Amino acid sequence: MREKHLHQAGIFAYGSDELRLYEERLTRYFTREYKRLAETPVQLATAAIPTCEGPMWEQTAALMDRHFDADLTLFQTFLDSHFMAYTMAYYGEEPAQILKSEITLESAERAKFDLICERAGVCGHERIFNLGCGFGPLETYLSERYPQLDITSITPSRTQADYIRRCIDNSSHPLYKNRLRLIEGDFGEVPLEQLGAGEYDLVFAIGAFEHVNNLHAAFQKIACLLKPSGRTFLHLIVSKPIFPQYHNSSDTLIGRFFPGGHIWPVAIIENQTDFFHLDRHWYLNGLNYWRTLDAWHQRFWRNVDQLYPQILAEEEIRYWNDYFVLCKVVLFAPCNGEVYGNGHFLFSRHDKVSAQVQQQPFGL
Ligand SMILES: C[S@@+](CC[C@H](N)C(=O)[O-])C[C@H]1O[C@@H](n2cnc3c(N)ncnc32)[C@H](O)[C@@H]1O
Repeated sequence: MREKHLHQAGIFAYGSDELRLYEERLTRYFTREYKRLAETPVQLATAAIPTCEGPMWEQTAALMDRHFDADLTLFQTFLDSHFMAYTMAYYGEEPAQILKSEITLESAERAKFDLICERAGVCGHERIFNLGCGFGPLETYLSERYPQLDITSITPSRTQADYIRRCIDNSSHPLYKNRLRLIEGDFGEVPLEQLGAGEYDLVFAIGAFEHVNNLHAAFQKIACLLKPSGRTFLHLIVSKPIFPQYHNSSDTLIGRFFPGGHIWPVAIIENQTDFFHLDRHWYLNGLNYWRTLDAWHQRFWRNVDQLYPQILAEEEIRYWNDYFVLCKVVLFAPCNGEVYGNGHFLFSRHDKVSAQVQQQPFGL
């Protein structure tokens, strides 16, 4: 009944003929567009994408307001029920395997964390800092595997921080009475002393660098948090080619969902070696994120009665429906996931960092 009402307002549900056609057409359009652009590749030297200018993070307040601080019920209707993970789940390496996989979203999120922890070399005795922790999915995963781990996590989102605090108090949640230290704030603004200078073995940033503006400053601050032998593992949306015109989300159809967002080309992240040495990096095919978004989209519509009209008004349903569709068809579906996907990067801190970083201010 409610779906019918929304349909009459031009808001088409997951799986409807109208939406399927729209998604197919836009995917074809962007496939053509990316192929056309790839005919004249842009080199890093001429791309003029700034990496060390301005504040470390930009528009964090607007981003929280527009996106991450939406009502918790909304996220609970579509995210996986075990981890509440809000990044790509892992279905496989190759397009055919990803599309054929029959595992649930919950299992695919677990597979993602298995892969991340294996690639980051987690042993279970590290002191870990998690930058942009969301609803604490990494914390949940790690506390199930390594109950003694010492983790400090940060998010500026009130919705996410309140949720994690409730999990710590909930005797049936894996985070119950966890020693997790949660900081509610903007990584760029919270002083280093409060975060824990030189205290950590490993800094994770899973789905957080898409919101970084000044890469140099962010890497510098991460280096300051690490012990001399420390390392950092990044998981973020990347582009394989360099498309300067699509680097700022504000110049794309994605901008209204992620104010201040950026999609970094692989080549730029590989080059962030002022404070680190790049040990290894991997590209994960974008169809993994396409499938994740598709599962979120499907769950959103399956539970739309819980949302509309009591939590989300008609225009907000349109907004979130557009969000799932556009992320799928602009980013991850075109060119079989070979243009936009996720990057994994494992960096080790340079030994010489400490003296060097003391002398330089972070991005202003
Ligand atoms: C896409 S979510 C990923 C969350 C989580 N890592 C996960 O795996 O589900 C991005 C996260 O980055 C956080 N974030 C955005 N801007 C931030 C900032 N300035 N400082 C710290 N975290 C930030 C958001 O609040 C959110 O928790």
